[in-house]
Amino acid sequence: SLHTVTTLPTTRQPGCPFDPPAELIDARRHGPISRYTHPGGKPGWLVTGYDLVRSVLADPRFSSRKELLNVVDFEIPPAPPGEFLLMDEPQHGRYRKPLVGKFTVRRMRLLTERVEQITAACLDAMEKAGPSADLVTSFAKPIPAIIICELLGVPYEDRGSFQEQIDSFMGGETSDEELVAAYTATQDYLAKLVTAKRANPTDDVLSELTDSDLTDEELKGISLILLAAGLDTTANMLSLGTFALLQNPAQLAALRADPALADRAVEELLRYLSVAKSFMRTALEDVELGGQTIEAGTTVVLSYHTANHDPERFTDPHALDIQRQSVGHLAFGHGIHQCLGQQLARVELRVALPALINRFPTLRLAVPAEEVDLRPETADIYGVKSLPVTWDTEES
Ligand code: HEM
Repeated sequence: SLHTVTTLPTTRQPGCPFDPPAELIDARRHGPISRYTHPGGKPGWLVTGYDLVRSVLADPRFSSRKELLNVVDFEIPPAPPGEFLLMDEPQHGRYRKPLVGKFTVRRMRLLTERVEQITAACLDAMEKAGPSADLVTSFAKPIPAIIICELLGVPYEDRGSFQEQIDSFMGGETSDEELVAAYTATQDYLAKLVTAKRANPTDDVLSELTDSDLTDEELKGISLILLAAGLDTTANMLSLGTFALLQNPAQLAALRADPALADRAVEELLRYLSVAKSFMRTALEDVELGGQTIEAGTTVVLSYHTANHDPERFTDPHALDIQRQSVGHLAFGHGIHQCLGQQLARVELRVALPALINRFPTLRLAVPAEEVDLRPETADIYGVKSLPVTWDTEES
């Protein structure tokens, strides 16, 4: 019989900070698609199997449009201009196309040296202030923040106007009013910045984009999603990735011993952690999916995390195995919305994680693992709020 999930779990199993919640693993075990009720009482579906999630993402009969989300009993406004994550073609492509050339593998590889410098500076500061640190504030947040700010042309000194705000709208613990305030404040800051770039273009992506037919309003939206995605996702991958390695000492030792494993280790951490846990799509017409009919106008929740832990696709999926072939994972999504910043994220992770574990051969948690302060399951992006670490110094 068809499995039903009435509410999405708000917590993970105690002692399993990296696996999908028990209810989602259980749902997938019953089959790749379950009946589900959205929090607002609207009937929907939950997709947890790898093949089925991937097929929805490749299917133009499923929409990303924000205003079509059928999850609450009030109308949801469309995404603001430029926020193309929640748009379909042709609007989506109009925004994405001018950006693609700015985020290619080649352009991102050119940034490697800069990522190395920033990482080294963070590690120097940690070493000087140590032998203990909060890895989130001293390492995981600043590295992607400095990089995305430099790339876009957003002054890093201005981070007080957006960093905590973005943290609060991805973190899952903010009231609706606070969320709107944080979002509006970030938009206001970016509106001023776009005006300034248009008046005085500098050598960065945002300035380059002013030389197009995009309006200021659209540029504000584009910079908001680039900044939000660029700051929060990679930061949580760096901190949670470190936590996962520290909890898997044999894997950590293997990576330390063989730098050539870095690329594979990063793909495996992306799969295993899947910090961008789930996204939604709405059926534009009746669609047969996994033996069920998804009626036009119904919204489905796609669990990328559970799909990436599907035993039919990845053997022994709840094990972190940095030697495995994780290629094909859905941590960056799939289809037209597949992560625009994935090459940038890969460069950052491949440089920063090995540099950290090699700088501190005795790196370890400074608190028991159960006391590490994790984001709730309700967060858009999963991660740790702080990660106290320590290490031995020459003198100790
Ligand atoms: C889209 C994950 C880093 C910019 C996405 C999607 C996922 C994702 C899963 C697809 C969402 C969907 O299916 O609806 C991640 C992860 C990252 C990361 C796990 C870090 C490890 C970045 C960075 C940037 C970025 C550094 C900034 C440049 C974007 C943008 C989109 C996107 C602009 C929307 C693409 C579109 O709608 O066409 N990301 N991302 N991401 N990501 Fe990332």
